[in-house]
Amino acid sequence: MPQSVQRRQAASTGRRLVRKTRPPALLAELALRRGFRVYQDPLANLFIRRDGKDGHHPPFLIGSHLDSQPTGGRYDGALGTLAAFEVLETLEDAGIVTDVPIEVVAWTNEEGSRFAPGAMGSMAFSLGHIPESWQDIQGTDGVFWRDALAETIAALPVAEQRALGFPISGYLELHIEQGPSLENENIPIGIVTGVQGTRWLEVTVAGQAAHAGTTQLAFRRDPMVAVTSALHMLYETVMPEDDNARLTIGRIAALPGSVNAIPGSVSLTVDLRHPLTDRLNTIEAQVLAAFQASAALHGCKVDIRKTFDMSPAPFSKAVIEGVEQAAGHLGLPSKHMISGAFHDALYVARVAPRAMIFVPCRDGLSHNEAEYVDPEHSVAGTQMLFQSTLDVLNTLAIKQ
Ligand code: GLV
Ligand code: MN
Ligand code: MN
Repeated sequence: MPQSVQRRQAASTGRRLVRKTRPPALLAELALRRGFRVYQDPLANLFIRRDGKDGHHPPFLIGSHLDSQPTGGRYDGALGTLAAFEVLETLEDAGIVTDVPIEVVAWTNEEGSRFAPGAMGSMAFSLGHIPESWQDIQGTDGVFWRDALAETIAALPVAEQRALGFPISGYLELHIEQGPSLENENIPIGIVTGVQGTRWLEVTVAGQAAHAGTTQLAFRRDPMVAVTSALHMLYETVMPEDDNARLTIGRIAALPGSVNAIPGSVSLTVDLRHPLTDRLNTIEAQVLAAFQASAALHGCKVDIRKTFDMSPAPFSKAVIEGVEQAAGHLGLPSKHMISGAFHDALYVARVAPRAMIFVPCRDGLSHNEAEYVDPEHSVAGTQMLFQSTLDVLNTLAIKQ
């Protein structure tokens, strides 16, 4: 978080507000105090607007997300959102008039860890509607997504309501790398040229619950055995055979979950990533085949649902050029890179020119409370976001 924002927060709002207010409400409060207009749409995406000369021109969006992971740190999402607000304040302080309105955005539920899929806010924004199937989504705590959404919207009465999905001129997001390459190479800025693809599967293997002490091997239909042998095979092949592939089982549960009962079923999530769609197809087929074969071998049945499918997304040449120019103007060393994590920019890519800026994080660690960004890198990233916003408006040929 840029330190000037931290200082201003502490000075102008006092400790009580900082501790007790939800992040979107705190940001909205800070924005209103600066005289910016605050909006939220039906997905609870939050927008903070600074007008341009041409009030009718589609705004240029900068921002990220404010939700986090169960073991999330302070920077994944928050850095890009607060840096964008810092950019808005700096434009205001410096009296810079842009032709185009600039808006800070905080997208809803980027992480998808409580309610899947991830990036719901930007996905619905890019679709212009809320998919019907989302009404039945339940969180990991059993809460219906629709109820949590209504509560989130109601918690921000200061925001003006806005329709979902509207024309925008472009999008820029600052984020931590969430991997070690910038730190290892001692490069402060990553210019992101695209995001690799992600697929999420929910697998349930059903067998037969039975007594742990009395049931001989020949009579067991144990889904845990089916799952572990499929996973063993996948762990031994998918990533060892392809450096660019990622396979993660982040959640697994056995039912009924009793120490002395063979489980009746085992459910797990599978997160697959790859920069190439063809390879993602092959790996997904490999996962399906592994569970089907293993379930059949152990007298079990398998059910596999795909809950998330994000194709790899390249970013826009004109926006990347603007970011390259900004790095040149600021004299900051940079390198081009593909993002291993998914981001809202991936969905925004469907409706507007976009790119991202990465800064290093310590030991490449993220989705972990120890996540840390050197203040010097937060500042460089925020300066890059500021300069890139101005330079990208030029490369997009939007007159300033
Ligand atoms: C987003 O946080 C991701 O899982 O890539
Ligand atoms: Mn993030
Ligand atoms: Mn994340």
